[in-house]
Amino acid sequence: MKSYRKLPTHVTHAPGPYGEEEEEEEEEGNEPGSPPAKKTLSLRWQWLGVVVIVGAGLLGGTFWAISVRRLPVEPPGKCISVPESQRFDCYPEWDTVVTPELCQMRGCCFLQSSSRGGPPWCFYPPDFPSYTLKTLNRTELGFLGVLTRTVKTYYPRDVLVLQLQVDLETDTRLHIKLTDPNNSRYEVPLEVPSATKKAENPLYSLDFSRDPFGILVKRRGSGVVLLNTTVAPLIFADQFLQISTLLPSAFLYGLGEHRRGFLHHLDWTTLSFWARDVPPTESYNLYGVHPFYLNMEEAGTTHGVFLLNSNAMEVVLQPAPALTWRTVGGILDFYIFLGPDPSSVVQQYQQVIGFPTMPPFWGLGFHLCRWGYGSSNQTWQTVKNMRSYLIPQDAQWNDIDYMEGSRDFTVDPGHFGTLPQLVMDLHKHGQYYVLILDPAISSSQATGTYAPYDEGLKKGIFINITHGQPLIGQVWPGLTAFPDFSNPETHQWWLENLNVFHARVPFDGLWIDMNEPSNFKDGSVDGCTSGELDNPPYTPAVLGGSLFAKTICASAKQSLSFHYDLHNLYGLMEAKATASALIAIRGKRPFIISRSTFPSQGRYSGHWLGDNRSEWKDMYWSIPGLLNFNLFGIPLVGADICGFSGSTTEELCTRWMQLGAFYPFARNHNTKDAKAQDPVVFSPSARTAMKEALMTRYALLPYLYTLFHHAHRRGDTVARPLFFEFPQDKNTYALDQQFLWGRNLLVTPVLEPGVDAVIGYFPIGVWYDYYTGSSLQSQGEKVKLAAPLNHINVHIREGAVLPTQKPDITTWMSSGNPLLLVAALSQEGMAWGDLFWDDGESLDTFERGNYSYVVFNVSQNVFTSSVLHCNLEAIYITVDGLTVYGVQKQPQVVTVNGKEIPFSYMENKVLSMSGLNLNLSRSFSIKWI
Ligand code: NOJ
Repeated sequence: MKSYRKLPTHVTHAPGPYGEEEEEEEEEGNEPGSPPAKKTLSLRWQWLGVVVIVGAGLLGGTFWAISVRRLPVEPPGKCISVPESQRFDCYPEWDTVVTPELCQMRGCCFLQSSSRGGPPWCFYPPDFPSYTLKTLNRTELGFLGVLTRTVKTYYPRDVLVLQLQVDLETDTRLHIKLTDPNNSRYEVPLEVPSATKKAENPLYSLDFSRDPFGILVKRRGSGVVLLNTTVAPLIFADQFLQISTLLPSAFLYGLGEHRRGFLHHLDWTTLSFWARDVPPTESYNLYGVHPFYLNMEEAGTTHGVFLLNSNAMEVVLQPAPALTWRTVGGILDFYIFLGPDPSSVVQQYQQVIGFPTMPPFWGLGFHLCRWGYGSSNQTWQTVKNMRSYLIPQDAQWNDIDYMEGSRDFTVDPGHFGTLPQLVMDLHKHGQYYVLILDPAISSSQATGTYAPYDEGLKKGIFINITHGQPLIGQVWPGLTAFPDFSNPETHQWWLENLNVFHARVPFDGLWIDMNEPSNFKDGSVDGCTSGELDNPPYTPAVLGGSLFAKTICASAKQSLSFHYDLHNLYGLMEAKATASALIAIRGKRPFIISRSTFPSQGRYSGHWLGDNRSEWKDMYWSIPGLLNFNLFGIPLVGADICGFSGSTTEELCTRWMQLGAFYPFARNHNTKDAKAQDPVVFSPSARTAMKEALMTRYALLPYLYTLFHHAHRRGDTVARPLFFEFPQDKNTYALDQQFLWGRNLLVTPVLEPGVDAVIGYFPIGVWYDYYTGSSLQSQGEKVKLAAPLNHINVHIREGAVLPTQKPDITTWMSSGNPLLLVAALSQEGMAWGDLFWDDGESLDTFERGNYSYVVFNVSQNVFTSSVLHCNLEAIYITVDGLTVYGVQKQPQVVTVNGKEIPFSYMENKVLSMSGLNLNLSRSFSIKWI
């Protein structure tokens, strides 16, 4: 929605874009409450280079505005000379069909191209007015500059003077911040590290363009230009901030949360960012917001860019290749990460936003959930069925049907009366219980009957519409108020309620849903204001067309700022409150899965990919989803296995359980009207295939846990795209139907019905079948693999040692079992691996030194296990077996610490030893001759 310009009151003189004087109407900001625009009529006369525009807005028949100004004569060549791919949109208003007149009123070029959805018809001429870099001074960390703009833009309240701060924070991190030096503006309340010393040998160099202002960042050495903002004008108005850059290549990743292939297509795509409750659909803004991208350069080096801004936003991708950031508030606060490889870009990003929390070991087990068990007894029966078929399960979940009237902190006494007993029984079996909480608090109960609301009102912890009056929306329980998690008081209130509830139902983890926040009403039961927070001069192309569509009003008041600024942070702030409450209540590592997310979320929670459908293509979409959230520093991620809505089929669910066994967070969940889809309801053969996939997961948990340790310690990805490991191999750049666990385990799932084979890409090298040890030598090629319905293909990369463990039906049982080490030799006969081990649930075990860390090495027919750090837990673990893949010659003798032991050697060059009974806490070596 747009507002009209008002009738100009006087005319100012400022240098025009083409070096001549231009008469520019004085714009005034639209007052909050100005009516939404309807249609614009405009006429144009041209005489001796002077253009007079008469524009008239019709609102209810009223003649609204006339503006007169002289436009520069546009030499058509100037516009035509801009190649299509480099046309930057001057009229992004998605609700207006741009006409030549509207375009020229903005001083832009209008050239119709052949198709809609291609290059913009109205685009900036090369000399459209922008900022001038007036001064630039060196500082201790970099530069401080002043930018000025003399010609106003077409959005209200241009900030005519800007401060530019460029800090060379580390050799691989550059921080560029554009702010208003004269008025404080909203900034994202994220604790970010600040540098104290300027980078000494930065991997980047900087160039500034004075007029128009622009900044160029180059990679030292290659000279590749990573950022070049001179390609389009910089705009910094109160509610419209825009900056564009050329990209060094079209290999672009990140920018979530969206449902797209992992590799972006730069075909004039606009991605919008505004947390939204909607079943994932291509081109929609979804539950979370992650303004971070990673861009591969031609030489295989990589950089990343993070815009620390939480306002409603758009990113436009175009084939130049180029990218435009467009946001409606805050400041322009960029971090640029120089890598140079993809993994280090992601690590450097997480050095800014924070490393992910270490999940409890049980959190990596299998989780089972559904909406609509209908009763605690039915839930319990499901758990018993799983046990009776010996199918691994660590956690049972309940959805909102456990609540009374869908209200948080209540239990339906009729249907869920036995819930405390169910939870006790889970605990007795070493299993865990997770329940859902929605943020919206029922507000329609009689006073004195629902303490969370009464107390919340007293404490003033709700988001308000006006001072002290909560905004009322509608969610599952009916009318609801929304806790303001930007207020520390709210954290205390949340903790108190959780504490009381935990005494009744001793849950182990929490699932925080609906926290965009979702609202079944647009804005509130009374709608929203007509002001410029709810109806900004420019509204990004968000689903529903307004910032308050299916959420609360942007004008609502929170303790830190307006909801306009904080909307995208709602899930993050709720997760933060929930994590500290769980720590206070349980004194152990919190397990939290959140639907809405924002950068730094990984410090508090994992994420699931929302309301997918029981369809084959949804199973595929889960892979780019996993990979993206690993880029975003939230490695604990998975999709609803077998699909949330609609009813699955046995074949789909079998394939999905196999793939889901390799989601970092593995949960089967579905909606209340769909058929049951837990493993037990299927035929014996499907059930067995599902069980086997889960057994494989449980066997691999020591490896997975170690990967999470590296994610927590230094920001490694857990589920990883192939190009992270093979950045020189361009064939890997678009792959998103396969993925790696860490650097060593390649998963190639079947993603279509009715097949018994799958084609996977194998980068150059030797890959070993995980199950058999048979090797496959690839030159960097596609390989057709047998994939009967009871099998998921998993391969180990040459040179790896994987710690595995005898699986069991819970992690409580399996985590005490002996380890079986698998070494997959490189062509030079080498291998390396490691293991992080602790008690699986205490807080900060790494930080406090309460862990063991063991490194495995193979070189010249000797396997060594070196204990680099040891605590008590490792003493109880034995290493029972070693299997070595790729032993070229049959050994004659095998010794452990010098003592001969029996072994077996198979035709496919697999050497195995079992019954070793070695203590993990002691170093040992095994030799074969
Ligand atoms: C929406 C969530 O995305 C879904 O997983 C859940 O089952 C329903 N809310 C009901 O709570």
